[in-house]
Amino acid sequence: MPKENIRDKGNGTAKPAVNGRAYPITEHVYDVIVVGAGGSGLRATLGCAEAGLKTACITKVFPTRSHTVAAQGGIAAAIGNMGHDDWQWHMYDTVKGADWLGDQDAIEYMCRHANEAVYELDHYGVPFSRTEDGRIYQRPFGGMTTEFGEGPPAQRTCAAADRTGHAILHTLYGQSLRHSAQFFIEYFAIDLIMDQDGACGGVVALCLEDGTLHRFRAKKTIVATGGYGRAYFTCTGAHTQTGDGNAMVLRAGLPLQDMEFVQFHPTGVYGAGMLITEGSRGEGGYLTNANGERFMERYAPHAKDLASRDVVSRSMTIEIREGRGVGPEKDHIYLHLDHLDPKILHERLPGITETAKVFAAVDLRREPIPVLPTVHYTMGGIPTNYHGEAYTLKDGNPDTIVPGLLSIGEAACVSVHGANRLGSNSLTDLVVFGRAAGLRCGETVERGRALPPLAKDADEFALSRLDRIRHAKGGTPTAALRLQMQKAMQNYCAVFRTGEVLEQGVAKITDIWKGSDDLSVSDRSLIWNSDLVETLEYENLIVQAATTVVSAANRQESRGAHAREDYKERDDVNWMKHTLAWADLETHSVRIDYRPVHTYTMTNEVKYIEPKRREY
Ligand code: FUM
Repeated sequence: MPKENIRDKGNGTAKPAVNGRAYPITEHVYDVIVVGAGGSGLRATLGCAEAGLKTACITKVFPTRSHTVAAQGGIAAAIGNMGHDDWQWHMYDTVKGADWLGDQDAIEYMCRHANEAVYELDHYGVPFSRTEDGRIYQRPFGGMTTEFGEGPPAQRTCAAADRTGHAILHTLYGQSLRHSAQFFIEYFAIDLIMDQDGACGGVVALCLEDGTLHRFRAKKTIVATGGYGRAYFTCTGAHTQTGDGNAMVLRAGLPLQDMEFVQFHPTGVYGAGMLITEGSRGEGGYLTNANGERFMERYAPHAKDLASRDVVSRSMTIEIREGRGVGPEKDHIYLHLDHLDPKILHERLPGITETAKVFAAVDLRREPIPVLPTVHYTMGGIPTNYHGEAYTLKDGNPDTIVPGLLSIGEAACVSVHGANRLGSNSLTDLVVFGRAAGLRCGETVERGRALPPLAKDADEFALSRLDRIRHAKGGTPTAALRLQMQKAMQNYCAVFRTGEVLEQGVAKITDIWKGSDDLSVSDRSLIWNSDLVETLEYENLIVQAATTVVSAANRQESRGAHAREDYKERDDVNWMKHTLAWADLETHSVRIDYRPVHTYTMTNEVKYIEPKRREY
């Protein structure tokens, strides 16, 4: 059997007990553990393994089923295959897209390193689409321009048809195995192991297949567990997108950052939520209202349908509100691709051609697709620097590094996306910062150093929580609470917001959160217990829903994806700062503080980009 397929059996078993019930737990020791096997998790796993570190990746789904597999349109990098491009133009677009809430040192890092990250993917074997002369194909995407926003749209998004995430994920998994990273597949991480000094020493996880418990100890723990779109009723994300790492961080007493910024993708399939890539508009698709009007020309005269996502989603919502929606209930919008050459659909958009047929019964060569803004991405997450190291606020310093803990990808808030992420910058973020975390671990992990002994009760927090949920005997099934939460988030924390509606949302979510004390779990086993896992996931979601709605009610301005009708303007004087939010699990409340935005760049080669009005 090849070395990489030999399952690490662990170093020994301890037998802690909770409420008189034994929970035998097997210990594993690594230099680095990565929790999550999406694009960022796999890129970090590969980087750490390549650096010669003993590396394990723990994932609740098979790696190639992680949500990155659904990423369609592409990965932004100014490699300039379709016309002149410059990483500094990419940086400008990202700063502007983020509505000046992004940290400019981190944005410089991402845009500066995007090109090499894409070439590495190419060399690892990602099957990018090609131009006639064999170079990586790039398409236009919303908010990506040339000449610091003054020139025509940039063709910057490197694509593998409309299945770019699928191509990247399969390649990175293969490469990680090649470098002998260990994978613990279908292991659900329950909680972080934190020591008395606030350092992270690993995680406790449940093997879903056989119900065994595992303590993974490591010098560095990299949380790469993705976003939490499933806090909402309709989203483009997989049902597994429950932000498990974010919730573990909250339970460890650490803050999440900028949770109020939730991105609605303009084109989710009406009624079903599946993503129709922005790449479809990049290839020439356009939106119309009930009058057949290409209304984006009114809202964004320059960029039109390729304006930034928050702008397009708001414009669509206004059209619907003002009675110009399509369909019998005038509650959605049409996306036209029926004018495009069928060859383009076949070669560049085969995935959405199929999605439209299966989920909307539409032949997009002949008919428009019914679409609606749909929750797609969560800008907030675990605050980090551009090496992936997690920040917390300590002794007045909001950039205090949490020893042993890193985070990358959608779980993290670096913050390169600030108040609004540009389409195709997500895959860039995953790969660039996954790579950065691998490099950082390669530099900082002391090979051969033994880990200090663990406190006797190191697993107690995780095991007690597991035991409480497993034996919950209340009156409300998890599914009922989850549905209430999802509907409350959808209705009270949506595209447009007001203080009054958000406060109602805070009250509703707090009530639902308190209702968790009445949870009922009917299956007490540990083996393939979906009732148990869905409850663990629900507990993860509800704390993120609470931090999101409280942070949104708190921010009295409009910026990026956070559009307040009672505070319509961006307010740089009072609100150009990151929100930090902590969850108090005892009182079911959220505490807010702030972190300054990094208004400086990483190098002197580029200057800080001064705020200005954001128009497309
Ligand atoms: O529309 C899309 O293909 C999505 C891309 C992204 O969110 O980056």
